[in-house]
Amino acid sequence: MRWDIVSKIKSYPVSLIALLFFMGCAASGNNDGAQVKDTGPGAKLVQGVCSSCHKFSGQHESKFNLKGPDLMWGGVKYQRAWLERWLQGQEEPLYPNGYRWDQGGGVVKHMSVSKEEAVAVADYFEANLLDERVKKNAIDLSQFTEQERDFGAEIYKQFSCLGCHQIKEDGKKIGGPISADLFDSGNRYNVDWLHRFALNPQDFTPHSGEYLADLSELGVRYIVGYLMTLGVKDYKFYEPWKSEYFQKADATRGATVYKNYCTQCHGVEGKGDGPGAAGLDPKPAVHADLPLSDYPEDYLYNVIYYGGKTVGKSPNMPDWGLTIPPQDLADLIAYLKVTFKGAPEEASGS
Ligand code: HEC
Ligand code: HEC
Ligand code: HEC
Repeated sequence: MRWDIVSKIKSYPVSLIALLFFMGCAASGNNDGAQVKDTGPGAKLVQGVCSSCHKFSGQHESKFNLKGPDLMWGGVKYQRAWLERWLQGQEEPLYPNGYRWDQGGGVVKHMSVSKEEAVAVADYFEANLLDERVKKNAIDLSQFTEQERDFGAEIYKQFSCLGCHQIKEDGKKIGGPISADLFDSGNRYNVDWLHRFALNPQDFTPHSGEYLADLSELGVRYIVGYLMTLGVKDYKFYEPWKSEYFQKADATRGATVYKNYCTQCHGVEGKGDGPGAAGLDPKPAVHADLPLSDYPEDYLYNVIYYGGKTVGKSPNMPDWGLTIPPQDLADLIAYLKVTFKGAPEEASGS
């Protein structure tokens, strides 16, 4: 283990004597029953060394009373591989102005430990630092789409996240360097923790300059999903048009969906003359004149699922994602593709 942190960091005056003291009597007052019983190498390090800067039990607190981020939930906050790298000093600092920017310490290099010690500490975290508020699988990103990522990126800017947290754009860091960098979130966070944090940041970091955004459940999904893509190479987005629903799609069933939801504006034969068309500008598309048969499935999916405004068209073309179930949507697109092949005179043209 390297002790360089002790000498390097003015703002965290941890003397060797204090550390030896902590080593000697591991009961630092922060430890609950479960942790005291654990006497492995991870426990020794955590209780003897790390607890001089981090809290591992008790109530969360304002950063202005702390030396390092609270770690009571350390066993559910991180991806294990990231945690081990962090502990070995293989990650960049998280706080561009230092965790305690108010003390003007600047960027601080964290102490590092050996690989064996990192593994032992991560084991200790996993066994002891759990948080019952953080539920497994409370958010399911297995069907997170590229469009949802884009919504998340919009939220990131619209809700000032960029004002306080740096991300990377074209390889360059952008954003206000107030709080933790988020450009590597996808390799760092356990998604279950991140989701719970997003529901109410103050449950984790009260009175620390944090911010609660007015987001719907879907908004939370978008921003959390977006963060989980950051830093991840070749993130695998869900592509609904390649799903089973589309393989099993049936145009005949789709005709009924079209009648139920689309003819009100687009007309029974897709001529753009449904009863809703009268008051609309721009008018509903005339499907009968469009070669929907040649439209890419992902485009049709996105305009129907996420609505006209998402693809730069009128917001009066509704987003049907919450209304029409996935199989019905696939059936509907199959129907559009077999039915609308372009205006008769243009059919052979473009
Ligand atoms: C001298 C004080 C100090 C000591 C000792 C220390 N840390 Fe830290 N730790 C910090 C600070 C400050 C940060 C914020 C780092 C940054 O700005 O990059 C931090 C960050 C962390 C993080 C990331 C926190 C987050 O989610 O933002 C983890 C995990 C962590 N430390 C674990 C440990 C462990 C385990 C030990 C003992 C082996 C330890 N630390 C010892 C001060 C300390
Ligand atoms: C006014 C500044 C501010 C804004 C705006 C803001 N945050 Fe934060 N954020 C903070 C502070 C302060 C913390 C607590 C951590 C710390 O001590 O810096 C925090 C913590 C976080 C964390 C946890 C960091 C960690 O690893 O412990 C995440 C994730 C996060 N914010 C995401 C967001 C998102 C997403 C938005 C936009 C919806 C946002 N923040 C907007 C200041 C801000
Ligand atoms: C409330 C009226 C309304 C309903 C209901 C409606 N649409 Fe639309 N739709 C529009 C309008 C208006 C446009 C034209 C948007 C523009 O040109 O900016 C449009 C455009 C479209 C387009 C053309 C996109 C393009 O690239 O030209 C498609 C495809 C489409 N709608 C499919 C559907 C389907 C499928 C349904 C039924 C699930 C449906 N619409 C229901 C109003 C509606």
